[in-house]
Amino acid sequence: MEKRSSSSAPTIGDLVHRGSLALAGVSSSARLDSEVLLGHLLGYSRTQLIVNSTTPSTSEVVAHFSALIERRQRGEPVAYITGEREFWGLSFAVSPAVLVPRPESELLIEESLTFVGEKQTLRFVDLGVGSGCLSIALVVELMRRRCDVRCVGVDISYEALQVAQSNAKRHDVHKQITYAQGNWFQGVQEIKPPYDLIIANPPYIDPEEQVPLDLSFEPRGALFAEERGLRDVREILDQSSSRLRSGGLLLVEVGAGKRVSLKELLPNFESHYEFSLLGDDSEEDRFTVVRGVRR
Ligand SMILES: C[S@@+](CC[C@H](N)C(=O)[O-])C[C@H]1O[C@@H](n2cnc3c(N)ncnc32)[C@H](O)[C@@H]1O
Repeated sequence: MEKRSSSSAPTIGDLVHRGSLALAGVSSSARLDSEVLLGHLLGYSRTQLIVNSTTPSTSEVVAHFSALIERRQRGEPVAYITGEREFWGLSFAVSPAVLVPRPESELLIEESLTFVGEKQTLRFVDLGVGSGCLSIALVVELMRRRCDVRCVGVDISYEALQVAQSNAKRHDVHKQITYAQGNWFQGVQEIKPPYDLIIANPPYIDPEEQVPLDLSFEPRGALFAEERGLRDVREILDQSSSRLRSGGLLLVEVGAGKRVSLKELLPNFESHYEFSLLGDDSEEDRFTVVRGVRR
């Protein structure tokens, strides 16, 4: 991006425009990225950027903003640049140790809330917590409903658990969620089974698959799984069956292009669960959540 001195300082609106032009070939949300990065730098909301769009910027702001735009041009996700990402209307700290929360994962929260309904208590497990976004969002919602909720959040990554723990404190749900490091259920000790609910967003990308540049910045252990992307899903289906109470719910996010291979995997577990597939069932098959009710 072109740098200018304060004598001919561009306005805030000019900077947003220049940033979006610079990112046009790199990002499908170039203008939004530009706004988020400038807002982060100035401590402004998007509304404040609009209100102050004719205010001249300083040469320091221009230089810092150029550096942020260059990082984004190299493919770094906006969330790693700002250290923040919104999920379920809540702000989460993120670092390169955790997956950037995705909006489609909010379907797990919606389904969980429908399942909980008017229940007064809930004991659940979040497998592969990453930033902690899923269980934290769910606990925040359930506490608003005065539900007595307890959760164990598991991750194999110590660094991810540190991020999740700080997010739980940020949203004041650290007394309701205990964190454990381990390989799926091996880490879970605090709350004894049977559980009412198990949610998981495990790695599900086939290591042979070509992936977009953004993903190269995210932790490999959060993304890729053997057996054409389904090894962790299979392990979770298997290990959850003895830990879920009868009538309890298992929700596993499984990502894109997996419906055909899921139809081979799920019959192996049909004696344990009654399955349905949620998400995008169009031909593009962009997103699937396996919903299993324990028989
Ligand atoms: C796709 S990320 C999901 C993060 C977060 N739940 C979300 O939805 O944004 C998967 C997470 O599972 C963790 N993970 C991978 N293999 C694991 C294993 N065998 N046991 C426990 N956690 C694992 C990764 O470290 C990563 O944080």
